[in-house]
Amino acid sequence: MGRIPAAPVTMKQCLVLAALFAVISSTAWGSKLSDPVTMSMAERHDRWMAEHGRVYRDEAEKRRRFNIFKSNVELIDSFNAAAGKHKYTLGVNQFADMTNEEFKASHTGFRNVIAARPVRKGGFRYENVSATPASVDWRAEGAVTPVKDQGSCVAAVEGITKLTAGELISLSEQELVDCDVEGGDQGCSGGLMDYAFEFIIGNGGLATEAQYPYQGVDGDCSEEKSSPSAAAIGGYEDVPADDEASLRKAVAHQPVSVAIEAGGFDFRFYNGGIFTGECGTYLDHGVTAVGYDEASDGTKYWVVKNSWGEDWGEEGYIRMERDVDAKEGLCGIAMEASYPTA
Ligand SMILES: *[C@@H]1O[C@H](CO)[C@@H](O)[C@H](O)[C@H]1NC(C)=O
Repeated sequence: MGRIPAAPVTMKQCLVLAALFAVISSTAWGSKLSDPVTMSMAERHDRWMAEHGRVYRDEAEKRRRFNIFKSNVELIDSFNAAAGKHKYTLGVNQFADMTNEEFKASHTGFRNVIAARPVRKGGFRYENVSATPASVDWRAEGAVTPVKDQGSCVAAVEGITKLTAGELISLSEQELVDCDVEGGDQGCSGGLMDYAFEFIIGNGGLATEAQYPYQGVDGDCSEEKSSPSAAAIGGYEDVPADDEASLRKAVAHQPVSVAIEAGGFDFRFYNGGIFTGECGTYLDHGVTAVGYDEASDGTKYWVVKNSWGEDWGEEGYIRMERDVDAKEGLCGIAMEASYPTA
């Protein structure tokens, strides 16, 4: 290793070496599970830092972050070591050097009282739907924009706009964050999607993502960027609570906003497969159900679009177990589902 060959190297040898190097580097760097037994935790941290472009202020900060990284990675490794016992895996993703508290504060919202939900506007139009397809995937219908790295309740509005107007338009979450100062939806991160729908109705719609781009922080509401609105909704309806059968009827017809508990360790580090919990029903995050299906082993699941970028989960999506024993659904997914109407 590291020795420079004395003899001149042929082109063929070069290609072989290059191919070998590519294989080595792709296995070491490319895998989110990055589990090389031979690599020390410090090396894994260094590689992870490079992979995620993470730079620390000083050595003290790096040591502190390393310790957090280490304890997270050890838990992830031991979960994955018992892979046969689970339907999903965890991955050492971009959140690996954050504590639970830091993660919850930055990536989930605070949900105070369920009673704070605004009074429901209409009935449940899918109440009497008698047949739904065995599986639905709105991504395949072109009704879902690429995964964003930000709040997410505009996805259901993007969906209904595509279904009624025929056009898929990426809408501005930032406009919600900046301009809906009274709604308390925190750009939907808190799962208060109904407030966001109220705002969008009152606002006469939402601007496009291109027109009012994501900034990452709350800003002042820009009237200039806000107009014209690209997509308007006529109203919204709530799916009857605690009923996955009703949720299925709604998702069969359009992408549906759902609130879930997403602040737990397993959810944070979900890497792929069918998520079956650990999670509770402390609703702290708004996501969008864009489909459902059943795996070959008979496990039923929801297809859920998250907003933590494409590196999280299955290209930004999670498959969450469906029709579970609890009426609230897994992570409370059936508790506060709602959808915009044209
Ligand atoms: C469903 O059917 C019942 C009974 O016929 C009716 O009262 C109700 O209005 C229907 N709901 C919808 C949303 O059409």
